[in-house]
Amino acid sequence: MTILVTRPTFPDVLELLRRHGEVSDSQTGVAEDAASLARRFADVDGALVFGRDRIDADLLVGSPRLRVVANMGVGYDNIDVAACTARGIMVTNTPGAMNDSTADLVFGLMLAAARRIAEADAYVRSELWAAKPDPYFGVDVHHKTVGILGMGRIGKVIAKRAQGFDMELIYHNRTRLSAEAEAASLARYVSFDTLLRESDFLVVQLPYSAENRHLIGAAELAMMKNSAVLINTARGGVVDDAALIEALAAGRLAGAGLDVFEHEPSPNPGFYALKNVVMTPHVGSATQATRHAMAMQAANNLIAALSGMLPPDLVNPEVAPIENKP
Ligand code: 8YV
Repeated sequence: MTILVTRPTFPDVLELLRRHGEVSDSQTGVAEDAASLARRFADVDGALVFGRDRIDADLLVGSPRLRVVANMGVGYDNIDVAACTARGIMVTNTPGAMNDSTADLVFGLMLAAARRIAEADAYVRSELWAAKPDPYFGVDVHHKTVGILGMGRIGKVIAKRAQGFDMELIYHNRTRLSAEAEAASLARYVSFDTLLRESDFLVVQLPYSAENRHLIGAAELAMMKNSAVLINTARGGVVDDAALIEALAAGRLAGAGLDVFEHEPSPNPGFYALKNVVMTPHVGSATQATRHAMAMQAANNLIAALSGMLPPDLVNPEVAPIENKP
């Protein structure tokens, strides 16, 4: 078996994979263009890939032996699942591993945006504190209304954190939670429009799909309070970045905390001049422990698939080996 690991990963993860096949890996972390990534896919049986690797139909054509694409990430909008399914290639993801770390970052961004932490940090470093005292007034997070758009695994962990901040909790989901799950989350189900109108902090926690593209655009931003803060730790593209920049610049929205962007790794430069935006480079899951857990989970999915077993996190069960159909 030949296994490709497209980006740098942990030594023990490589070690584990080496016990199951010949591993070709890149530990340089240098970004590759589509053509050179495709070249590395020729003659591999399984690939452990990362969120920024685009696995599309063109790449699959040049990889006739490929049987499994194990994504290190819960979101897999980087992979053309239909094209994989058509070729009998299994796709797996890593749900669960990043729930807590991502929920932590949501509050990091919320607090940073509300309390102007990045601006205040720059001010201390500039040594202007004594000469030009500035109180850096912000807004409170505690006792405010947080609206969660997408009450899935991560949304529920965010809801738990919000209770500790004594926040009022509302949510909107395509499918309403069961009465028990709703009671456990302490969140009130509201319509999408009510969520937009009532949230002081609107947290976007939806996967990207064609139907979610620009779900939050100019019209939706206009429905939000002028004092509201938008947090996106889910996927770029769910929010229309150009419309968001316009709303923030015009003061129609108080602030934003963004970990994801429509164009990564080169976001719309319109964000850079805005002081009411705090940005991080898609690091929701980027703690040592969480990334390690995700890499192990992806490796175990890949090994299961190559061993003829059912991978625990199979995204397209229709391609599971007949005897292992769930
Ligand atoms: C990863 C993510 O950082 O899980 C996801 O969907 O976006 C992140 O946890 C990303 O996929 C890198 O592989």
